[in-house]
Amino acid sequence: MKILVTGGLGYIGSHVTVLLLESGVEVVSIDNIDNSHIEVLDGIKAITGKKPVFELLDLKDKDKIQDLFKKHTDIDGVIHFAAYKAVGESVENPLKYYKNNIGGLLNLLESICELSIPLIFSSSCTVYGQSSKLPIKENTPLKPSSSPYGYTKQIGEQIIEDSCKAHLGFKAILLRYFNPIGAHPSSKIGEYPKGTPQNLVPFLTQTAIGKRPLLKVFGSNYNTPDGTCIRDYIHVMDLAQAHIDSIYYLISSSQKLTCEIFNVGTGQGVSVLEVIKEFENTTSKSVPYKLSDPRKGDTVAAYADVKKINNQLGWKAKFSLKEALQSAWNWEKELDKKS
Ligand code: UD1
Repeated sequence: MKILVTGGLGYIGSHVTVLLLESGVEVVSIDNIDNSHIEVLDGIKAITGKKPVFELLDLKDKDKIQDLFKKHTDIDGVIHFAAYKAVGESVENPLKYYKNNIGGLLNLLESICELSIPLIFSSSCTVYGQSSKLPIKENTPLKPSSSPYGYTKQIGEQIIEDSCKAHLGFKAILLRYFNPIGAHPSSKIGEYPKGTPQNLVPFLTQTAIGKRPLLKVFGSNYNTPDGTCIRDYIHVMDLAQAHIDSIYYLISSSQKLTCEIFNVGTGQGVSVLEVIKEFENTTSKSVPYKLSDPRKGDTVAAYADVKKINNQLGWKAKFSLKEALQSAWNWEKELDKKS
């Protein structure tokens, strides 16, 4: 089997690439290294003993994408990660987000729909907004998004669903990730943000190691047990495995399936303060933090109903929050050695 991974050097893309290579799948990896690092290839090689076929390529370059499919005529499936994901930046520069996330997706679809190459799309629980019912099921109605980033995921899903209806034989799975955290157990790959991290766990580990003076807890008066926001934190290795299970399901399933949506989470809601405490207990490192103002656009609470993916794909999260935080910390220490 040969799989094209877009955004293959990114956080989730690199972990999925490792699992694909380990299961004997050939990987063609593309990335524009806008938000990733070329050395990730060395980490992948160190873990698997193999490197994917890598092409430095931007999905906005339609001609190059078409050339890629002419060169690799035997691609069995595509896992599409390549996208920007900073919510705040998307509010300041929406066109950058629509051009990249939607433009890139359209170029990709123009090649793969005609060829009926199945697609896994990297979506997000952001599409639900603040759901009035918890846990969140796949058929929970979507709310207007609080950011252009969120709209790129909602619109991206819609474009794929419409393409599946229009092109007989084109199939897709949309994976709505909750909050991916942690790193590969080898500490050879992990989350590798360029600039200031926007997400909780990389900010927390950078604070614990002394790169940042203080972690701000965004909001402490929410209507939750300890006043801080609640999320469903999923180990990146579990999330990566969900892609492997999805691609096999997609490729082997009957023609009846056209476009299927799955939540990918643990089903457990955890508060920001609980994450900090669990990190401190696990690593014996204290994290200086301060209760601060809420972050604009934040959802108060989001955690997944995971029955559909459990039953239909036989996938279940295996790693605990403790293991995820320990692996994130081990990875931060590795990064520190490099700097
Ligand atoms: C965010 C995006 C989501 C996106 C995901 C991946 C929003 C509203 N959602 O998820 O659409 O798919 O990132 O990029 O931005 N927190 C702090 N201090 C920090 C950082 C975060 O207290 O320095 C809190 C947040 O308020 C939140 C939790 O930690 O309650 C998790 O935040 P984060 O890791 O940024 O993820 P989300 O906001 O859930």
